[in-house]
Amino acid sequence: MNEMRPFIDSLPKAELHMHIEGSLEPEMMFALAERNGVRLRFGSVEETRAAYRFGCLQEFLDLFFQGMAVLRSEQDFYDLTWAYFERAHGDCVRHAEIFFDPQGHTSRGIAFETFMQGIQQARIDAGKVFGITSELIMCFWRHLSEREALEVLEAAAPFRDGITGVGLDAAERGHPPGKFAGVYRRAREQGYRLLAHAGEEGPASYVREAVEVLGIDRIDHGNAALDDPELTRRLAREGKVLTVCPLSNVRLAVVDCMARHPLKTMLDRGLAVTVNSDDPAYFGGYINDNYAAVQEALGLTGEELHRIARNSFTGSFLDESSKAARLAELDAYVERYH
Ligand code: ADE
Ligand code: ZN
Repeated sequence: MNEMRPFIDSLPKAELHMHIEGSLEPEMMFALAERNGVRLRFGSVEETRAAYRFGCLQEFLDLFFQGMAVLRSEQDFYDLTWAYFERAHGDCVRHAEIFFDPQGHTSRGIAFETFMQGIQQARIDAGKVFGITSELIMCFWRHLSEREALEVLEAAAPFRDGITGVGLDAAERGHPPGKFAGVYRRAREQGYRLLAHAGEEGPASYVREAVEVLGIDRIDHGNAALDDPELTRRLAREGKVLTVCPLSNVRLAVVDCMARHPLKTMLDRGLAVTVNSDDPAYFGGYINDNYAAVQEALGLTGEELHRIARNSFTGSFLDESSKAARLAELDAYVERYH
């Protein structure tokens, strides 16, 4: 047992990088397949989990795209999102910024309002039952065209109030951020917060491009930024928040092993890093499992974990007074714990 685990488990925190479709556990996948008459590729929950061995991002994406095919009705999206909030509440998550992939659903004939209503109702209920606040981040698939991303932005217009930001995900290599400069310009004009996955499998130049060309508020992953010392210093100076996902990085072979994860180096270089689960059902753990795995492998101190949790609130899209309240609760917890 990791001796820091009790401290981690009760640490108030925000999760800023979690794809709702990536929280679909195989048990729910089978239940929804049955409910909706969808045929699955694997015969059992165990076989499905055993298939979650990925040599790279694309191998994961292939299974991830198949998995989400069981999500069909508003109730399915509600159940999926509610299950995440239950887990998050158990992990002392006070605020969650949840990604979703509209193109993964509209491409299968699911109406925008079907997934939006299911997700939104679960967010409302989680606020009432658990006191968890949340924001929604709509991601564009970067292997598709900018034209298609613009269509997503247009389709989202009736739901504008419920969506805080836009992001960029799926296959990174060969799809630089600049490909989406036009849709990001339009999203900024419409008041969306801007995020992008960058420097997960792609190079440091993609992180730079996401910052300089897309003008993003926050970087998802950003590991490769360390390869560019000048960029690293700039991100540290500007306090640009990175949403790092340790178990994901190991499972997708972005890093060789947890002991060589760059999180400690990122902290030492002054980067505002956070710890997140990315796709917890596929990568073997929720947010506290990520904190614990990286703490143990790198020997992070309580002070460093406190810093990471602070970054999760300061880097969130909460308003200033909510941030202050969450930070006060966090600081009081750490004070009491010592
Ligand atoms: N979609 C879901 N998880 C992702 C990841 N880790 N990278 C890119 N796209 C994703
Ligand atoms: Zn991600």
